[in-house]
Amino acid sequence: MKKIVILISGRGSNMEALIAARDAGNLPVDIAAVISNRPDAKGLETASKAGIATHYIDHKAFAGREAFDAALAECIDGFVPDLVVLAGFMRILSEGFVRHYEGRLMNIHPSLLPSFPGLHTHQRALEEGVRIHGCTVHFVTPTLDHGPVIIQAAIPVLDGDDEDALSARVLRQEHLIYPQAVRWFAEGRLTLEGARVRLSAELDGRAALISPLLR
Ligand code: GRF
Repeated sequence: MKKIVILISGRGSNMEALIAARDAGNLPVDIAAVISNRPDAKGLETASKAGIATHYIDHKAFAGREAFDAALAECIDGFVPDLVVLAGFMRILSEGFVRHYEGRLMNIHPSLLPSFPGLHTHQRALEEGVRIHGCTVHFVTPTLDHGPVIIQAAIPVLDGDDEDALSARVLRQEHLIYPQAVRWFAEGRLTLEGARVRLSAELDGRAALISPLLR
């Protein structure tokens, strides 16, 4: 079974969705550890209650990005994971860190990339007046919120939407597509071809976790 390490910074609802999918038998992975850069991340408590090893490495205790990233990589590599899953991990990662995990580092971003990289995606989508918004799971490259797209979910922007309403509807989609993307990885179905991700056919005929429309 593939081993994953999840990195969080706060609430950890995407992490919870991964744990729930695993517990429901829909995600065949060993969640070896959850690591946060913030000691007070709520998700650490959730992970610990689920019996998962937790660690925090406080970025404020390091002189710079490279030093923090080196300590983080050392902690991650101690678990020898097949995949590192960024789930609301609010740190820009150095190029060396990203290269070290090339092809085995995934992120979820609350917009339809390449639109709206960075922060405040829902507010910016409302300000731009887009009619379609959503979320993206992608392999990480050194450019922030960029990289080969694994899966996206799109939702309509409704006339009455404010930032909270829109972000809540996008988050529900995040909780569907992240377990799906990690499952595809665990099943060995994702292949990187330059900037594109190829999804191979199901090997054992099991139904996909979510609607075929999202595949
Ligand atoms: C999510 O919207 C995720 O896409 C973004 O940060 C948020 C984290 O939420 N990267 P949570 O910690 O998973 O609840």
